[in-house]
Amino acid sequence: MHIHQDALAVVRAAAPDQPAILNRPHAAARAARFFVEKFPGRSLYAVKANPSPDLLRVLWEAGVTHYDVASIAEVRLVRSTLPQATLCFMHPVKAPSAIVEAYRDHGVRVFSLDSVEELEKIRLATTEANGGVLPEDLTLCVRLRVSSEYSELSLASKFGCDLTTAGELLQATRQVADSLGVCFHVGSQSMSPHAYVQALEKVRAAIVDASVTVDIIDVGGGFPSIYPGMEPPPLEDYFGVIDRTYESLPVSYSAELWCEPGRALCAEYNSIIVRVDKRREDELFINDGAYGALFDAAHVGWRFPVRLLRDGASAETEPFSFYGPTCDDMDHMDGPFELPVDIKPGDYIEIGMLGAYGAAMKTAFNGFGANEVYEVLDEPMASQYRGDRRDPRVSDNVVSLR
Ligand SMILES: Cc1ncc(COP(=O)(O)O)c(C=O)c1O
Repeated sequence: MHIHQDALAVVRAAAPDQPAILNRPHAAARAARFFVEKFPGRSLYAVKANPSPDLLRVLWEAGVTHYDVASIAEVRLVRSTLPQATLCFMHPVKAPSAIVEAYRDHGVRVFSLDSVEELEKIRLATTEANGGVLPEDLTLCVRLRVSSEYSELSLASKFGCDLTTAGELLQATRQVADSLGVCFHVGSQSMSPHAYVQALEKVRAAIVDASVTVDIIDVGGGFPSIYPGMEPPPLEDYFGVIDRTYESLPVSYSAELWCEPGRALCAEYNSIIVRVDKRREDELFINDGAYGALFDAAHVGWRFPVRLLRDGASAETEPFSFYGPTCDDMDHMDGPFELPVDIKPGDYIEIGMLGAYGAAMKTAFNGFGANEVYEVLDEPMASQYRGDRRDPRVSDNVVSLR
């Protein structure tokens, strides 16, 4: 892989014809070390956010030993990339064949579920995988449905059992599991630490209702990154309230606290370089889009930071929207993306903070989707981990009490 100082150096050296993905391994390693050192429990990496084997190796080297995998393909990928890693199959609806293969061939012992049907499926499939005997080494995590009200992307509809059924499901799961967990997901890009307090209070109610011994509390993902218009509080605040609330839960003496960050571990890992192929007033036609790494920019109106990669451009900027390269009208990104007024065809733009749910979403629709990959040494466009962040809730003359 070619290593350059920054995106401008890549443009000067290669003038890439395809969208180029820029990797920043130092940024991902820093994020991983932050979670490993500061989260008051174990941090699993949610592989779906970015399954790049290069990234997986960076996270492993930085101390992330456990991986949240959600499909048999992710199980195989992580097992072949990191043979020593602990894999946790945290999708609450799995194919029986996936459970059998995961248990038998890849050493997976941790599974999540949110229904008695899935519990039965896990019981039968792991018994088959264990030569006809119910295994005694299963860790089963019951997923609770919690509110996504503080998050930019909801995960509240599809998965999770409600308090009305959680008690019974926890009791039934306790019969099968060697180790019993409760997990949830507050939604992605959670903008308030309170989301986790509220969810953990629901966990408390479920445990009290079930009167079972719980060994693991898994607070899921949802830890935020920094994007234009989305300045979350420092992650230390999230960790602090999670720790305090967890400590007051009625769990086993030797219980463990887990989290499963995806976005927060990899958002800073990638940016991309795109080329402007046409300008129509305040609309720029670029060579990546809704079917490429910019799915979220198109489909959920996510705003990513941008910069023009040309010396001598006008200092005056104006808001632009983007069209991607496919023939689909939906291949459109509203932004607004603030760029110099004299931007023109042939110019290159760097779009930042695309490590999470960016490169991972690429398709080959309409013949696009190829890309070149470079490593760069400069800083990502924003960082939670550099130690120079100001708390956005604290202004010069108003101090908020935590
Ligand atoms: C079960 C589970 N854990 C963790 C994650 C990662 O979430 P995030 O990227 O918001 O941290 C997801 C994302 O969908 C998920 O479904």
